[in-house]
Amino acid sequence: MLFNVALFSTLLLAPAVLAVPSGLGPGVARRRESHHSQVNNRLEQAGAISNTQYSGNWAGAIWEQGNGTFNSVTGTFTVPTPSGSTGASAAAWVGIDGDTCASAILQTGIAFTVESGQPTYSAWCEWYPAPSSTFSGINISAGDTIKLTVTAWTATSGTTMIANLSNGQTVSKNLTSSAPLCGQNAEWIVEDYTMGSSLVSFANFSTVTFTNAVATGTGTYTPSGATISDINQNNQVLTSVWTSGSSVTIQYV
Ligand SMILES: *[C@@H]1O[C@H](CO)[C@@H](O)[C@H](O)[C@H]1NC(C)=O
Ligand SMILES: *[C@@H]1O[C@H](CO)[C@@H](O)[C@H](O)[C@H]1NC(C)=O
Ligand SMILES: *[C@@H]1O[C@H](CO)[C@@H](O)[C@H](O)[C@H]1NC(C)=O
Ligand SMILES: *[C@@H]1O[C@H](CO)[C@@H](O)[C@H](O)[C@H]1NC(C)=O
Ligand SMILES: *[C@@H]1O[C@H](CO)[C@@H](O)[C@H](O)[C@H]1NC(C)=O
Repeated sequence: MLFNVALFSTLLLAPAVLAVPSGLGPGVARRRESHHSQVNNRLEQAGAISNTQYSGNWAGAIWEQGNGTFNSVTGTFTVPTPSGSTGASAAAWVGIDGDTCASAILQTGIAFTVESGQPTYSAWCEWYPAPSSTFSGINISAGDTIKLTVTAWTATSGTTMIANLSNGQTVSKNLTSSAPLCGQNAEWIVEDYTMGSSLVSFANFSTVTFTNAVATGTGTYTPSGATISDINQNNQVLTSVWTSGSSVTIQYV
């Protein structure tokens, strides 16, 4: 999958650049394209006897259980300040499926992007394979304490919620899809997502710690004991992930 992404970006990069209307900054053009979270691009096992795996796009903790195990995932994190060149970005989210069940993901999160040295944020939700939609009515800033929740009512309907625990503001959106969830995976992730057909340049997001991270369904699961996924691109490991009780920390290294 990583190979395909690279191939597509080679094919599409020039037309995409040419398609930017003159007079618009790259940030403006980028925001009009759709941000698209993808399923886990699993690479090889990171260590023969560890529960760590490498991924081209997901860093975090992922449960891999049988069908129907999960119907809700939540986690709270402090919005970081990303750094990098203009366009560098990353997204923190919680979700159901997208790993061993690669046909659907119900997810919500915050994308953080560097635009001319300044961080910009967007709050979004997505039922993969449909692209993300952006929440209006919530302005994210660095340092905000944000609680993310997804809940599936059925395999094809559910709700996503983003709450600002600093002031109690909440936005939510009900989603339906023709791509049914399996309920096999629950995850807390920082993703190098795709824009158009290529991965965005991965921002230094510093550290994202999901606290009060809980997945429920047939039981109650915290990140402890879940599979750990680190992003590895071009043989460079870009993240370090560790769990502690009901929290998981994802660090850019
Ligand atoms: C978000 O910021 C814009 C621009 O500063 C402001 O007009 C709007 O009222 C803000 N919305 C919320 C929900 O705070
Ligand atoms: C969250 O609440 C804090 C405190 O009122 C406020 O400064 C911040 O802009 C809010 N953020 C969002 C995303 O609503
Ligand atoms: C989502 O659906 C529930 C149950 O039907 C309803 O109570 C709630 O108001 C809906 N939320 C939104 C944001 O439309
Ligand atoms: C798991 O759920 C998916 C989606 O509903 C379904 O397509 C698949 O057949 C199920 N697998 C098993 C082993 O039941
Ligand atoms: C990422 O940013 C943090 C905070 O600005 C900084 O301390 C850290 O050294 C940076 N990491 C890398 C690998 O550049």
